[in-house]
Amino acid sequence: AKARHFKWEISNMFWSPDCEEKVVIGINGQFPGPTIRARAGDTIHVELKNALHTEGVVIHWHGIRQIGTPWMDGTAAISQCAINPEETFTYRFVVDKPGTYFYHGHYGMQRAAGLYGSLIVDVAEGEEEPFKYDGELNLLLSDWYHESIHTQMVALSSKPFRWIGEPQSLLINGRGQFNCSMAAAHTPGATQCAAVNRQCAPVILLVQPNKTYRLRVASTTSLASLNLAVGNHKLTVVEADGNYVDPFAVDDIDLYSGDSYSVLLTADQDPSSNYWVSVGVRGRLPKTAPALAVLNYRPNAASKLPALAPPATPAWNDYGHSKAFTYRIRARAGTPPPPATADRRIELLNTQNQMDGHVKWSINNVSMVLPATPYLGSLKLGLKNTLTAAPPPETFSRGYDVTLPPANPNTTVGGNVYVLAHNATVDVVLQNANALARNVSEVHPWHLHGHDFWVLGYGEGPYRGDASDEARLNLRDPPLRNTAVIFPYGWTAIRFVADNPGVWAFHCHIEPHLHMGMGVVFAEAVDRVGKVPKEAVSCGATASALMNGDHL
Ligand code: C2O
Repeated sequence: AKARHFKWEISNMFWSPDCEEKVVIGINGQFPGPTIRARAGDTIHVELKNALHTEGVVIHWHGIRQIGTPWMDGTAAISQCAINPEETFTYRFVVDKPGTYFYHGHYGMQRAAGLYGSLIVDVAEGEEEPFKYDGELNLLLSDWYHESIHTQMVALSSKPFRWIGEPQSLLINGRGQFNCSMAAAHTPGATQCAAVNRQCAPVILLVQPNKTYRLRVASTTSLASLNLAVGNHKLTVVEADGNYVDPFAVDDIDLYSGDSYSVLLTADQDPSSNYWVSVGVRGRLPKTAPALAVLNYRPNAASKLPALAPPATPAWNDYGHSKAFTYRIRARAGTPPPPATADRRIELLNTQNQMDGHVKWSINNVSMVLPATPYLGSLKLGLKNTLTAAPPPETFSRGYDVTLPPANPNTTVGGNVYVLAHNATVDVVLQNANALARNVSEVHPWHLHGHDFWVLGYGEGPYRGDASDEARLNLRDPPLRNTAVIFPYGWTAIRFVADNPGVWAFHCHIEPHLHMGMGVVFAEAVDRVGKVPKEAVSCGATASALMNGDHL
């Protein structure tokens, strides 16, 4: 295993992700940030300088479990203090498991400002992937708003509430086209994009006829759920969130924010043509045009427009199509099975609520607000006032009607900190419900820090925990993942073992939803956390305690 060193400077800069010039948060002058590539077992060192003028910053390594290094998880107010302007903080952590990951800002809505990049971990030296391919292609998907995140954050917390709307563009590796189409020839009424500039030029994926490629695809969207298809080509899914899955072939894949997949594609179509790779919106009435990339069969010119129209995205509300894909994902043989029973079950009802005229997302009627002092410091030191007096509710009323807007839309705010015992097997049931408006229930992809979990099952309507719900749980070959979706009006059950002491966020990966309180915190065996580096938590009440001689 190797140590891999990176020196990053984070700054605002002008950029044209979709051909319109805006301000993005870039790393070392690049957008998206540089790709980190390592082998399983390597240690990553990122010496990160914050060169934003007036905001703090942190970076979260999405999908990396940070076993034994919870202070390197990069979640502001949970695992560390935000890094102030002109300060440098060094992230040091081991990437223990091969897979397709990414990193992103985890402070305010900085991810939506473009603070992200790919993190790819190959198998350790001398080991082999359990499938064969000739080459690799990497696609980091995102969505893009023309309003700044500052305007967006003000809108979301305003009274009356202002919704941010749908993104202006979808981006593939940070490139999209607003207001024009690469495939105008196939799209009635569309204008062909003018010769596009370097920053928004479409991604060209080079392939040799008859070779097989591993497409690594990850979604770090702020809002959009996505569907990806490649004209005339089948995709064989082999990896999800850094875990191998039982391979299966599909025409298209869904990706919710926080998901990553590897799919195998064989370039076995007519080699005289190029093909479109198309990424469209799922789960919300799309107002954003699909993003396109070109699958360029060599030796065709990259500029040769594909003969076929880009593959059409399934209807946005065809949830049958989405569920068929999601339910099909099973663990590859050899994946450790979950413990047969759980020690604790936490049931989390997801609702949209109101508080003093503000719109919030709540979990069991508590909307998450983050404290000034990161939990990892305050809980480790046992500082008073860290946890609100009463622990957050473990369940919700069995009589709650998930098909209607909340009868009592009021909510409270709180820390939503669940204290987990060391090595407990924990089940979490995420229950979706109707939002504030009638006949609206949205998709929410929930992402857990510090762990992979087994996705035991999904169901429609309210979870009752009775025999018919139990029968829907898969204890034989459930996939291991770090992100799981709840479908409208449905529930999703996951299981994990609390074997990684730390303080871990668990939240909806939709950036505005998290910002509006849609998350909880798992404080897991904090007494067993090793020595927390001072520089990670020297702010707020932890800083005062350290000055008074307390030891972390
Ligand atoms: Cu990728 Cu807490 O997020």
